[in-house]
Amino acid sequence: AGRRATRVRAQGINPEIRKEEGKVVDNVVVSELSKPVTAYCRCWRSGTFPLCDGSHVKHNKATGDNVGPLLSRSNVT
Ligand code: FES
Repeated sequence: AGRRATRVRAQGINPEIRKEEGKVVDNVVVSELSKPVTAYCRCWRSGTFPLCDGSHVKHNKATGDNVGPLLSRSNVT
């Protein structure tokens, strides 16, 4: 039986947005965010998807991409 190729080609997911920046960072004043803050994955590489586990760092190094998590305040008031 043929063996299916499992090798995944390193490929970026952001073809055009702010590519001149090594990492796209939008600053927030953390003290103005209610706790807890949740980090949602935007690179699709997280082992704990939909939550960020830091895998975007390795992805960015491998692909030249510049993605990172979306930080969100909790819906709890
Ligand atoms: Fe995907 Fe952090 S692991 S954004």
